[in-house]
Amino acid sequence: MKLFADTAIIGEIEEVSTWGIISGVTTNPSLIAKSGIALTDAIQKIVNLVDGPISAEVAEGNATDMVQEAKVYAKMHKNIVIKIPMTLEGVKAVKQLTALGIKTNVTLVFSTSQALMAATAGATYVSPFMGRLDDLTKTDTAGFELVKDIKEMFRTYGFKTQIIAASIRHLNHVDQSIKAGADIATIPFHVLKEMLQHELTDKGLAIFREAAKK
Ligand code: G3P
Repeated sequence: MKLFADTAIIGEIEEVSTWGIISGVTTNPSLIAKSGIALTDAIQKIVNLVDGPISAEVAEGNATDMVQEAKVYAKMHKNIVIKIPMTLEGVKAVKQLTALGIKTNVTLVFSTSQALMAATAGATYVSPFMGRLDDLTKTDTAGFELVKDIKEMFRTYGFKTQIIAASIRHLNHVDQSIKAGADIATIPFHVLKEMLQHELTDKGLAIFREAAKK
């Protein structure tokens, strides 16, 4: 499973880019607002930091408007992936962008039916939102089941669309993404840092440090 950074905060992307293990970045309007810079400025900076797919989200609207906006971002860099909301107009836009050779990431996916429609339209990626589905269902497994079911569906029907497990809030979501066979997990900075840690690693290091003194 590839690791993407789910952030538009340039300082965070600068830091994770030095780790050498981040293959892409996803942004959305909320993350752009949090970053305090305009989407196009963020894109310009991010493409210079991470050499991999960078998702830039268009404003929700009709297919024609979304395709127009998408073309502007796609022209900015070869790695740009257009993030499109999972609506009927979004599906139409994905179909058109696919025909133009522009990569897409269909976002706000909460069911296998939605994922099937997005994949049928030619989406390069679909983003099931694990955390938000768990919130809605008040469970800690609904997001996992969704990613697992989409994976099975894509395998059964031979879709090439890749799954980006999104709305990841904690380490359990990362583990569940792995178990469900997500192709990619897009992960907030604080969870990426938590992934490095384990109390037994710290304890083991302390023991080795003491031993080394002797
Ligand atoms: O990857 C999508 C993500 O940015 C949404 O996360 O925590 O707002 O549901 P969240």
